[in-house]
Amino acid sequence: MANLATNFIGIRSPNPFWLASAPPTDKEYNVRRAYEAGWGGVVWKTLGSEGPPVVNVNGPRYGVIYGADRRVMGINNIELITDRPLEVNLREIKSVKRDYPDRALIISLMVPCDEDSWKSILARIEDTGADGVELNFGCPHGMAERGMGSAVGQVPEYIEMVTRWVKTHSRMPCIVKLTPNISDIRKPAEAAKRGGADAVSLINTINSITSVDLDDFAPEPKIDGKGTHGGYCGPAVKPIALNMVAEIARSPETRGLPISGIGGVTTWRDAAEFMALGAGSVQVCTAAMTYGFKIVEEMITGLSAYMDRKGFTSVDQLVGRAVPNVTDWQFLNLNYVTKARIDQDLCISCGRCFAACEDTSHQAIAINPGRVFTVKDEECVACNLCVDVCPVQDCITMVELPKGTMDPRTGIVVGDYANWTTHPNNPMARAAE
Ligand SMILES: Cc1cc2nc3c(=O)[nH]c(=O)nc-3n(C[C@H](O)[C@H](O)[C@H](O)COP(=O)(O)O)c2cc1C
Repeated sequence: MANLATNFIGIRSPNPFWLASAPPTDKEYNVRRAYEAGWGGVVWKTLGSEGPPVVNVNGPRYGVIYGADRRVMGINNIELITDRPLEVNLREIKSVKRDYPDRALIISLMVPCDEDSWKSILARIEDTGADGVELNFGCPHGMAERGMGSAVGQVPEYIEMVTRWVKTHSRMPCIVKLTPNISDIRKPAEAAKRGGADAVSLINTINSITSVDLDDFAPEPKIDGKGTHGGYCGPAVKPIALNMVAEIARSPETRGLPISGIGGVTTWRDAAEFMALGAGSVQVCTAAMTYGFKIVEEMITGLSAYMDRKGFTSVDQLVGRAVPNVTDWQFLNLNYVTKARIDQDLCISCGRCFAACEDTSHQAIAINPGRVFTVKDEECVACNLCVDVCPVQDCITMVELPKGTMDPRTGIVVGDYANWTTHPNNPMARAAE
């Protein structure tokens, strides 16, 4: 089997699968069981300073978005950082790390935005044996209102300042966890790098209200008739997280900055996608909360089998492999021309491709009286919507037109699309004349 051993900023783990800072990593009991199940590492549930105790709500903490089969697609939470005493957490961290020296154990931290608070918590965690710290500049609810979490993560100058304090007062590797609640994710990543961060991790949760009770007229989860925004995570956020990871991985300012990828990772394939876009490790929360710790077995065996198939002997050969293929729109090849093809043997004549194309797109699907659907190449713009709405996998596929053939929609020979902007067949060009 392929070797999944990972060395992320000097932190070693037997595989790249870490549990993200959240309820699954809140206490010794959980973390021991997670390691026994096979997780390569954990980021301990965020610790705060010994100020006023952290008090969670006593009503429901989660709102959920379900798929059609009641599969959990997204969770919204209003939980705070750990509400267990610092001393207890530190004792447990030390004990777990002593017993599992080969696993990664990173401590997530969130304290008020002053140097003494950071200096003092860093001194407290020094002798736990933990492998590194993750600075939680991401949680968007509860703590942000107190000037911490995403309130710091949304101001690059604060990120840089706090990261520098941490690097000044600790020799531990430092991962800066970013909030996605910002317009350009590259800015906080650049700030973290300027402050001396060894890596960034992302994403933390996205500001959200998952639903509204239409009898009580309150957002859910409802606490005695009132609700508040929470942080959204799970499979639904994966596309947003992948894009943000890719943006950091390919930006000249942050290229090479190690990334721990987080957001909706549920299977080995999700993890491999994050890694291909530049993540040297991945972190998981919602999937573990939904299915339990054993999901890591599928991740380990799936990634190993994939790496064997590809001939990769180490995870480093996968990390970042897709980054050169992420580009800006203007560099996409207009001479790559495809048309939809419907496999009549697989077609169940449901007509969804027809309805979508006829009503909302390009009127490129014909229906005959026997409910046989065919593609009109002269209308098909290759948008892919018919493939997306077809309920039968592989029934509709996009097939590439060979170079040199004429695209019946435009009358342009495939290969000549570089001139399309000014070509006389282009109605936009004609209109501009
Ligand atoms: C209930 C809950 C509590 C969380 N608590 C923390 C936390 O204390 N610190 C932190 O950095 N992130 C926290 N997170 C965010 C996760 O670490 C992770 O960034 C996010 O859930 C996205 O990953 P996922 O899609 O795999 O869940 C929490 C998430 C959930 C669902």
